[in-house]
Amino acid sequence: MASKESEIESNDSAPSKKGAKKTSTDSLMEFLKGIKGLSESMQKRVHKVLTTEGIVDPRGIRAFTQKELENLPGITDATASLLFGQFESKRDGSIFLSLEEREQLELVRSKILTGAKELDTLLQGGIPTGTFVELYGAPQSGKSQMCYSISVNCLLPKDFGGLEAGVIWLDTEGSFNSQRLKQVLSYYEYTYNIPKGKLNTDKFMVAATRTLAQIELAIKEAGKIIPKNNVKLLIVDSLMDPFRSEYGGLGELASRQKHLNRVLHNLMRIAEAYDLAVVYTNQVMANPDPFATAMDKVQPTGGFILGHASDIRLWLRRATSKIRNQFDAPNARRALITDCGWLPQAECHFSLGPFGICDVAEEAKHRELALEIGFDVKEEASQEEEVQTEFATVE
Ligand SMILES: Nc1ncnc2c1ncn2[C@@H]1O[C@H](COP(=O)(O)OP(=O)(O)OP(=O)(O)O)[C@@H](O)[C@H]1O
Ligand SMILES: [Mg+2]
Repeated sequence: MASKESEIESNDSAPSKKGAKKTSTDSLMEFLKGIKGLSESMQKRVHKVLTTEGIVDPRGIRAFTQKELENLPGITDATASLLFGQFESKRDGSIFLSLEEREQLELVRSKILTGAKELDTLLQGGIPTGTFVELYGAPQSGKSQMCYSISVNCLLPKDFGGLEAGVIWLDTEGSFNSQRLKQVLSYYEYTYNIPKGKLNTDKFMVAATRTLAQIELAIKEAGKIIPKNNVKLLIVDSLMDPFRSEYGGLGELASRQKHLNRVLHNLMRIAEAYDLAVVYTNQVMANPDPFATAMDKVQPTGGFILGHASDIRLWLRRATSKIRNQFDAPNARRALITDCGWLPQAECHFSLGPFGICDVAEEAKHRELALEIGFDVKEEASQEEEVQTEFATVE
């Protein structure tokens, strides 16, 4: 069996890689040069292996587990632990931080606006980067519409309240619609008087990931495009659909949850490494327990594994007819924070308008504006308040 080092030497002879991604890989080289105990020849070898694996930025190392790094050709166990050692938040040689230092790390997180001010207030300023946000609810509750709005707000220039950052969208249901994203974008073009098509959408990337294998491949590929495009938002719409279709029945539940856990941990490492928000949608199922409270009657799929992973869980559903009539907002919805480690359980309203989600009080205005612009305005067909659930004994 060839030694790890000789495997690298043979990779070194690949001429096409030379000089590729020069600027983006420079920061990686600078990082490697700064590691005490890593010889110059080893720096070059490690650099070669990491770039071949798609790591073009030192932050990308954190998206791997130490074991995964050790398994790469040319990376010995000692080198892997040297690489990981660089990321410890050291203060006087200790990995512990004071409360103030920890607070500073949390304060640098950016917030992505949702498009609805009431919801932004509920979330204390928007969706914080570095967190996992789960949007769950029945069909038509507004999960995908919210994803369009959050995406546009992430792409928007900073002057218009955006992050001017990239977005990756994993479309697992085949429901993504580029025209819809452009419609949401057109509101900001109109509001800020920007010529049509001038808002930069180059940093928006979508992948059709109908199978679990494609999702895992996309997460791996994402590691290569995140630093180049300053991606701050990764959408998975929806997360559980491929798991539910590829694993069926009670007998496969344990394997499914194990697989889900692995995918979630891959996403977590990316979110932490690049400080990006991961927003995923989720379907609901009915809880047959006759003593369950109203909130517990509808449950997100994915079990405890997903519940533990989500930092903020938002339950979306249709608003009451009272609210819809009061605001002339037939598309009004409710968003309830059902679980968050730092926010109370609280609720607000929002609407699904022609330009994505908005405050309920804005829906009528947005409809008028859309007609003015010449959009086909869509209103809710049914005025009935209902929560559609799916009855299943197994998720
Ligand atoms: N162009 C539009 N103008 C106004 N409202 C729209 C427009 N497009 C979609 N909607 C609203 O969005 C609703 C669909 O919401 P959304 O796509 O977010 O559902 P979802 O919660 O993702 O459901 P599913 O679980 O089926 O994916 C429609 O029923 C409609 O009320
Ligand atoms: Mg949807």
